[in-house]
Amino acid sequence: MGRWLAFILSPALAAAQNVDYTQYVQIFMGTENGGNMFPGVVRPFGMTKLGPDLYTGSDAYSGYLPSGNVTGFTMMHESGTGGAPKYGVVHQMPVAGLVSNPLIDLSQPRASADQGSVGTYNTTLVNGIQISLAASEHAGIMSYKFPNGSASIVVDVSHVLPSFRGLGLSQGYAGGSVQVFADGHYETSGVYNNGWNEAPDWKIYACGRFNVEPATMKVFSGINTTLISYGETNSTSSITNRVGVVYSFKNGTQAVESRVGISWISSAKACSYISSELPSSKSLAQVQSETQSFWNSEVLSKITTTITDLPTLQLLYSSLYGMTLIPSNRTGENPLWDSLEPYYDDDFTFWDLHRCSTALMQVLQPIAYEEQIRSLIDIWRHAGWMPDARSSNYNGRTQGGSNCDNVLADAYVKGVRGAVNWTDGYSAMVKDAEVTPPNNGDPQAPDSSDQQGRGALPDWLKYGYITPTYSRAVTRAVEYSVNDFSLSQVAQGLGNQADYRKYLSRSHNWRNHWSSGVSSLGFTGFLVPRSANGTFIAQDPLSCGGCYWGDAYYEALPWEYSFGMTHDIATLVNFTGGPQKFVQKLEAMFQPGNNPASSTGSSQFNYTIFNPSNEPDFTTAYLFHYGGRPDLSLKYSRHVARTYYNAGNSGLPGNSDAGAMQTWLLWNMIGLYPLTTTTTFLIHAPWFSMTINLGNGKVLNITTVGGDVDSAFYVQQLLVNGQPWRKSWLTWNDVFANGGSMEFTLGEQPSQWFDGPLPPSPGSL
Ligand SMILES: *[C@@H]1O[C@H](CO)[C@@H](O)[C@H](O)[C@H]1NC(C)=O
Ligand SMILES: *[C@@H]1O[C@H](CO)[C@@H](O)[C@H](O)[C@H]1NC(C)=O
Ligand SMILES: *[C@@H]1O[C@H](CO)[C@@H](O)[C@H](O)[C@H]1NC(C)=O
Ligand SMILES: *[C@@H]1O[C@H](CO)[C@@H](O)[C@H](O)[C@H]1NC(C)=O
Ligand SMILES: *[C@@H]1O[C@H](CO)[C@@H](O)[C@H](O)[C@H]1NC(C)=O
Ligand SMILES: *[C@@H]1O[C@H](CO)[C@@H](O)[C@H](O)[C@H]1NC(C)=O
Ligand SMILES: *[C@@H]1O[C@H](CO)[C@@H](O)[C@H](O)[C@H]1NC(C)=O
Ligand SMILES: *[C@@H]1O[C@H](CO)[C@@H](O)[C@H](O)[C@H]1NC(C)=O
Ligand SMILES: *[C@@H]1O[C@H](CO)[C@@H](O)[C@H](O)[C@H]1NC(C)=O
Ligand SMILES: *[C@@H]1O[C@H](CO)[C@@H](O)[C@H](O)[C@H]1NC(C)=O
Ligand SMILES: *[C@@H]1O[C@H](CO)[C@@H](O)[C@H](O)[C@H]1NC(C)=O
Ligand SMILES: *[C@@H]1O[C@H](CO)[C@@H](O)[C@H](O)[C@H]1NC(C)=O
Repeated sequence: MGRWLAFILSPALAAAQNVDYTQYVQIFMGTENGGNMFPGVVRPFGMTKLGPDLYTGSDAYSGYLPSGNVTGFTMMHESGTGGAPKYGVVHQMPVAGLVSNPLIDLSQPRASADQGSVGTYNTTLVNGIQISLAASEHAGIMSYKFPNGSASIVVDVSHVLPSFRGLGLSQGYAGGSVQVFADGHYETSGVYNNGWNEAPDWKIYACGRFNVEPATMKVFSGINTTLISYGETNSTSSITNRVGVVYSFKNGTQAVESRVGISWISSAKACSYISSELPSSKSLAQVQSETQSFWNSEVLSKITTTITDLPTLQLLYSSLYGMTLIPSNRTGENPLWDSLEPYYDDDFTFWDLHRCSTALMQVLQPIAYEEQIRSLIDIWRHAGWMPDARSSNYNGRTQGGSNCDNVLADAYVKGVRGAVNWTDGYSAMVKDAEVTPPNNGDPQAPDSSDQQGRGALPDWLKYGYITPTYSRAVTRAVEYSVNDFSLSQVAQGLGNQADYRKYLSRSHNWRNHWSSGVSSLGFTGFLVPRSANGTFIAQDPLSCGGCYWGDAYYEALPWEYSFGMTHDIATLVNFTGGPQKFVQKLEAMFQPGNNPASSTGSSQFNYTIFNPSNEPDFTTAYLFHYGGRPDLSLKYSRHVARTYYNAGNSGLPGNSDAGAMQTWLLWNMIGLYPLTTTTTFLIHAPWFSMTINLGNGKVLNITTVGGDVDSAFYVQQLLVNGQPWRKSWLTWNDVFANGGSMEFTLGEQPSQWFDGPLPPSPGSL
């Protein structure tokens, strides 16, 4: 169905196209306090992410920090990630006056806080230089004002975002080249490595042009600089020295605009992006305005509402924006293999995104989502493995399971077909489940591969659990269980009954780590490590050592992982002693003071075990449904959403993680929560009435009557597609496959609005 048909079917959607939703987007939401969001200029999934790089001596994950000196403006960044900074390459730094030595510290503090909106970004340095930015898909504009008329610009190919954490994950510069042409434009290539995913050398090409004729151009390699007159060409390259070029403009030059293209393929291609995307006939303001229109039509208009409360509109639209910055669409920009399939990079990471984010991507961005699934399968075809994380065209790192399996299964069970080759998709999943990846020798976890696949597979196959031979043993066991469940679902759909039974059986392996002899806070039964001889290893469920790469539990406590087998919750309820005990145990997750652990407890979160700042507990907030108490899922998840999120600079409780935090919040606003790898959505309650544009002319209308987001959010009655609905859950087919409606009546007190069966627990067969 085309645009035209969508238009006549849905006048409401057509009207939505004319609204400027960018006015509500706070680009600095979650840039501070560990959110690590990228505030610069970018298009949805754009390859260019152009913004400032800041230096304070602590890690600037997305380049930006609220304080410190600007060391330059660079074309590539991640958004919302932690661990260690990545990118911060393809650099320019404007300098007031002549540059005698480009290798000295040319950084400048800012005169005032940076300003910006979707597609626009302004910085003013203390020396008076003003910078404005704009982005297209593969190119960007850096527009400079030099109020004292003495203008220089340094291009430093060696520039990267450094890491100061001492974990051995700082990016390296491994050489570069620069060539200056008679017309004043330059072409560079730079080689870099490492960063959070421990990538080997990778190379990016760039091409830069100025709208003003330079007075002097000097290429430099280390301390050697070569002065060239305008109209001459010169080049230099080095695998050890910093290389680059210094441009100076004639005295009195008050404004210089630079257009820069980037490419993973060649500098000629980088130059071609300038001509095709940013011809000089297009002004900075025009490019900015086109970028805003694009965000409106492709992303922000996907959810519309008639509410007028500004903080809520800002939170909604800033979150839609924040979930659509990465991955990067690098279709046509893959330097490693030729393929007709789409290509996406900067999956950072599926450990974060598989829980509820990719499920929202399917709803809001079905075209990009199908392209991403195809890209993951193509990566398996050509690189041997699907990634759990991927950046600079290199898989790594895998924190727990091979969670790409969950992403594929979720797409499969919800009917994503299109151009996806599911024979290959399933083969890629089987590789994860059957082949041990070669050890990549990560010093932080030397026991097995954390590059891709399942490093602890030998134990999984031999014992049905994971011994302390392997780091992150319990985390991996819980996640491998869900991964195997994912295989079972796709196998069943493809008619492979033998594999269905095999992987369903393997998905029960988490049970082998369950010890009913362990107690904590009055509850018995937790996941614990297990030796090769079968004995359980004593473990305080409120302690996880450092909770990091080398430990049995990664970034969460045994308490938290003991709710992680989201496909098999009915069994967990049984193991816990029945629904009532299960609900009490879940409530203990939210009890202030229950978590004294220095590694995960936080005064910011009242020392609850439930950790709003990280992904492992995302689904846990909604598991009350399985104890027959959807009202408690609503109560606790709403508290978390309303307490820890806002559209301010510190408005995310932890690393956004590629938008994972924003998607958790958006599901809270929508009133549903996906059980990824199944077709089930748990029903809680929406914050306000809204229409979700599902594409192809389909919509999901959600309305509320009698509600208040903070004081009257309990469901009293629900109609789904006009019919009374008495289950606390629904499926993809009910409201998403063909669109639909949900009409909520909300009130101050919980009610017994539901009496249908508990949500399915398809792994409990
Ligand atoms: C402009 O400012 C720079 C840095 O402060 C200085 O070096 C330069 O001489 C000034 N130029 C003029 C024309 O004032
Ligand atoms: C920040 O810039 C100022 C002005 O150039 C300089 O004096 C200072 O050393 C810089 N600070 C750092 C940490 O680079
Ligand atoms: C950003 O700078 C441009 C000029 O380059 C100016 O027109 C615009 O008003 C500035 N925007 C903000 C928010 O400062
Ligand atoms: C500078 O150039 C000289 C002569 O070509 C060379 O021997 C030297 O290694 C260069 N030094 C640096 C730091 O590039
Ligand atoms: C660059 O300029 C230097 C100094 O004029 C000259 O020696 C060198 O050959 C030039 N290199 C190229 C590649 O043109
Ligand atoms: C600008 O003027 C200053 C002072 O006269 C001079 O030193 C400098 O070389 C000039 N800069 C350029 C790029 O011509
Ligand atoms: C991804 O990039 C390719 C090549 O530029 C383009 O054809 C495709 O439409 C893009 N996908 C999305 C979802 O924008
Ligand atoms: C899927 O890929 C396999 C091999 O990679 C190929 O044999 C098969 O024809 C493809 N299926 C479709 C439907 O394209
Ligand atoms: C089992 O193995 C663990 C660790 O190797 C050891 O400490 C324990 O004594 C063994 N227990 C039995 C019953 O063999
Ligand atoms: C839970 O326990 C009950 C009673 O023992 C049993 O009938 C039921 O099959 C169990 N369900 C699961 C999923 O284990
Ligand atoms: C922390 O607990 C106090 C006292 O119960 C309560 O007033 C406050 O709202 C809680 N804060 C958060 C962030 O939950
Ligand atoms: C959604 O609401 C719009 C506007 O009220 C209406 O035209 C449309 O039929 C509704 N769609 C569904 C699926 O309920």
